[in-house]
Amino acid sequence: MREICKPDPLLTKLLPPLKPVPGVVYVPSQFALRFEHNGRQYAFHTMMKQCVEAKLPEQAAAGEGYDELIQGQFLVPSDRDECAYYNSVSTLVRTYTRKSGNRGFTILPTLGCNARCVYCYEEGMKPVSMTPETVEQTIRFIIDTHIGDTVKLSWFGGEPLLRPDVIDRICEGMREAGLEYYSTMITNGSLITEEIIRKMKTDWKLKRIQVSMDGAEEEYIFRKKYVDYQDYYRSVMRAVSRMSEEGIHVNIRCNVDTNNMDGIEQFLSDLESGIANKDNESMYLALLNNARMGDDDLSLWKKVVEFQEKHKASKIRLGRLIGLRRGFRKSHCMADGNGVVIAPDGSLYPCEHCPPESRFGDVWNGTTEPSVKDEFCRTDITAEKCRKCMFLPDCTSFSNCPVKDTHCRELRELVNLSALRDMIDRAGDGETADDGDAYC
Ligand SMILES: C[S@@+](CC[C@H](N)C(=O)[O-])C[C@H]1O[C@@H](n2cnc3c(N)ncnc32)[C@H](O)[C@@H]1O
Ligand code: SF4
Ligand code: SF4
Repeated sequence: MREICKPDPLLTKLLPPLKPVPGVVYVPSQFALRFEHNGRQYAFHTMMKQCVEAKLPEQAAAGEGYDELIQGQFLVPSDRDECAYYNSVSTLVRTYTRKSGNRGFTILPTLGCNARCVYCYEEGMKPVSMTPETVEQTIRFIIDTHIGDTVKLSWFGGEPLLRPDVIDRICEGMREAGLEYYSTMITNGSLITEEIIRKMKTDWKLKRIQVSMDGAEEEYIFRKKYVDYQDYYRSVMRAVSRMSEEGIHVNIRCNVDTNNMDGIEQFLSDLESGIANKDNESMYLALLNNARMGDDDLSLWKKVVEFQEKHKASKIRLGRLIGLRRGFRKSHCMADGNGVVIAPDGSLYPCEHCPPESRFGDVWNGTTEPSVKDEFCRTDITAEKCRKCMFLPDCTSFSNCPVKDTHCRELRELVNLSALRDMIDRAGDGETADDGDAYC
């Protein structure tokens, strides 16, 4: 059995290998994705994250030549409830890796924005900003509730760069308290200047930044609808290049739906020529929420995967797509992880979309409604449609996310198979794919 990529190391450590037991009937696991590539048979385990070259029998017993596949959980006892098994593994991993307190703080300095993106899910929200009192209390809250040696601050909005003074002060508060910290940011990038890049490097300790751009120039101008447009298409690319030069990792997010997908080739070519320094940048395509939840989602996903395959060798590195997990997924998103979102008025939420029904406290009083948080983030109920699904480990049992993909299974199969085939090609004959390179 040739191994294409190794199982998740944490699961290997936590789970004893399945011992083949005489007399037990073994069948292919619910989590075994079986596929053919260049005339050879492969199997990928969506929970263990191992990929092997092997043809799984429909039925097997111990000692019949399939013991390695049984140990790797590609073949499991025919009466195993795989959903229950997955949930017990998930609970074990969460218990093993989780501590109480907040690991990361997503902070919205303002809900105001200098753009009016045609698709923005925040449309209609009041453009409130943090008051000086809220900023001071936010600093206090972070000092009191953070866990770990280093505080992780994520700047979000609205447009966070409309309020660099808020970011300055919170970072200063961390230094005054003697706390180690670093930050990340999600921005439209239009307000980045040389002075902001200096602050990013020295004061904000910014490691990574995501900049949203939505297609080639005409489409960009049409979609982002800046209140006062000033050649941002080019100035954002120059800013990306400068940040990359300064060692800040930049991820360009390109939001797509059926209306702009066909123009993305031109956009990629503009990025190739417009970004001088490509040391620390990458670009990825993200389906807009409405497109993900619409009827045409699958044909759009196919175009996205084709684009990705066609431009593998692009000078702009293409980032990974949704559905590809490098290791066992401990949480669905920040809402069932250990992070907290702080809104401009100091309210606490489990998710950056700030659904009003999920507000569970504020920076003055901490968590005042733990049951609201627990209910929103509960992971113990697996939706009926997911119980028998092969991709359950990629989605996790958390089902409160407001974004639902219409063809969730098909898109995950599409994206996984594309990445797995690519990985097999790169692994070459008789080799195991390099861990650092593995997509799964
Ligand atoms: C609300 S914005 C705030 C940060 C910043 N103003 C920006 O645009 O990057 C946060 C992220 O949500 C994304 N976003 C906004 N509306 C969306 C939608 N309808 N579907 C998918 N993503 C969306 C944006 O592209 C951005 O990456
Ligand atoms: S730049 Fe961000 S916050 Fe502003 S309108 Fe666009 S998506 Fe919304
Ligand atoms: S959301 Fe869809 S892909 Fe994910 S586990 Fe449920 S059925 Fe499967």
